[in-house]
Amino acid sequence: MRLMHVDSSPKGVKSNSRMLSAYYVDLLEKKIPNLVVDYLDLSVDTPPHVTGEFAKATYTPASERTDAMKKELEYSDALCARVLMSDILVFAMPMYNFSMPSTFKAFIDNLVRTNLTYNFNDDGTTSGNLNRKKVIFITTRGADLRPGLSPWSHLDALTPALRSPFYFLGVENPYFVDAQPLQFSDQEAREEALKRAFSDLDSVALEWLKQY
Ligand SMILES: Cc1cc2nc3c(=O)[nH]c(=O)nc-3n(C[C@H](O)[C@H](O)[C@H](O)COP(=O)(O)O)c2cc1C
Repeated sequence: MRLMHVDSSPKGVKSNSRMLSAYYVDLLEKKIPNLVVDYLDLSVDTPPHVTGEFAKATYTPASERTDAMKKELEYSDALCARVLMSDILVFAMPMYNFSMPSTFKAFIDNLVRTNLTYNFNDDGTTSGNLNRKKVIFITTRGADLRPGLSPWSHLDALTPALRSPFYFLGVENPYFVDAQPLQFSDQEAREEALKRAFSDLDSVALEWLKQY
């Protein structure tokens, strides 16, 4: 069994999303025998942005790609292989300006690839190749954007921005643990938010572990 653990926060040991994702991976490692963890830190190994060359290469059929095109796609090819090889995907990130950090967006832009992570079918439909993976997004937010509890919840552009591309790749029911509010609130509310997030992670782990 393989797990890919991806962190995005640039805050190192001070990062809450890193703390929560490390906690979750540790829970699974303790319970799943021989779990292999493949770690990617997007603040260190930042995926390249999409270039004009990339855009051309990715939509050129593999058999017709020039050596330059193949080179352009090397990073993305390797990233897709790592993700496709994994059974479990743990993605952690802070909310930045109501959406995701640009490093994670670059990760997605390198991951959505025709005939690799999704296919065009003969009947005109598409199907995603990540459909058998267990996926959790662990997000941290400075404000409280919880639906029904916060007047700011409509500003949450992060959840749909994660759901859409991963749905397209076949991940229909990802798990979300959103820790909030972790910054723009009093100490008590921040502590409660972290406590809730740890408890939600415990619940998700219990549910997942029933299946292994
Ligand atoms: C550049 C930047 C933009 C941010 N934008 C938002 C935001 O739009 N909404 C929000 O609730 N928090 C925002 N925050 C706060 C972070 O999401 C919050 O502090 C989070 O806990 C950081 O996670 P980390 O400790 O893993 O880095 C922002 C923080 C930074 C540095």
